[in-house]
Amino acid sequence: MLRRIAVLTSGGDAPGMNAAIRAVIRSGVAKGWDTFGVRLGYEGLISGKIFPMGKRDVGGIIQKGGTVLGSARCPEFKTEAGQRMAIRSLNEAGIDALVVIGGNGSQAGNLALHKLGFPVVGVASTIDNDLYGSDITIGVDTALNIAIEAIDRLKTTASSHQRAFLLEVMGRNCGYLALMAGIAGGAEMVIIPEVETNPELIADVLRESYEKGKSHAIVIVAEGAKYNALALDEFFSQHRERLGFELRVTILGHVQRGGYPSAYDRILASRLGAAAVEELSKENYGVLVGMRKGQIVSTPLEEAVNKKKDLDPEMIRLAKILD
Ligand code: ADP
Ligand code: F6P
Repeated sequence: MLRRIAVLTSGGDAPGMNAAIRAVIRSGVAKGWDTFGVRLGYEGLISGKIFPMGKRDVGGIIQKGGTVLGSARCPEFKTEAGQRMAIRSLNEAGIDALVVIGGNGSQAGNLALHKLGFPVVGVASTIDNDLYGSDITIGVDTALNIAIEAIDRLKTTASSHQRAFLLEVMGRNCGYLALMAGIAGGAEMVIIPEVETNPELIADVLRESYEKGKSHAIVIVAEGAKYNALALDEFFSQHRERLGFELRVTILGHVQRGGYPSAYDRILASRLGAAAVEELSKENYGVLVGMRKGQIVSTPLEEAVNKKKDLDPEMIRLAKILD
């Protein structure tokens, strides 16, 4: 029988994490459990930063970006010694089970705790949308909206000056954000790690779009692509005279992770946080809760961590047709 549960956020912060924390705490309280927060992800777990967090402590956070618990990347937790120290902290605080809100790496850490026998459940949260077990993860919708706002703004200047623009978006090794931002923003071309391309081809696409009389040309590139913003900037600068036009480069960077979460992310996070508590109450440990085909589902952490989520080939085809 569970009595005391804790929640932490880990890895890259994602808009909506606060709604998930709130849902875990309030759903836990509704079960009659004592609820706790952990500061700074696995780093805080190792150093015992575990504190009581009740219903009122999560008031007024649903609209806030980032995570009120703080997050961290913690190399020490990748070692078994680090993981055992974390379990010791949990035991010392009398915690019976843990909810980990985070992306792929964080869920790998969660799986390690599960394998060492500690009861855990994961909540799928990363702007990269690269986590198997959830069609969409917490933070993706907000990050995409920020990317398309940037594209819309770049288009105005691109039109005024008849310039070619390149926008790099985050996503680590996954092209999801770039692909979807390209479709939603009406980009001329999308460059993603999953599809090989070369700078000459990009130059051809831009030239053709001007020859067709387009007043602006925008290329979206994923940070994980071989030819990312820096590589392309260098290429276009070196070959400026031969190509006959300039390329202006914008790297969206962490702007994309910041700001208040969209309604979609708040609702998704609230549902996933509550679902994590349901899994705990059923003693269904070692799973990741996510959303698949519109339904909340649980996937064994072993599968979620080790399987690769591929991009939908239909979306890649659509981006090509619409550019
Ligand atoms: P995200 O969860 O957003 O993918 P990271 O990949 O940086 O972010 O992972 C967050 C943290 O999870 C890492 O700093 C580390 O503490 C832990 N972690 C990542 N990979 C592993 C692993 N293979 N085993 C144990 N812990 C891991
Ligand atoms: O995983 C989220 C993410 O924003 C990736 O898109 C990006 O590659 C990485 O985190 C950046 O990490 P950091 O915030 O540590 O610079």
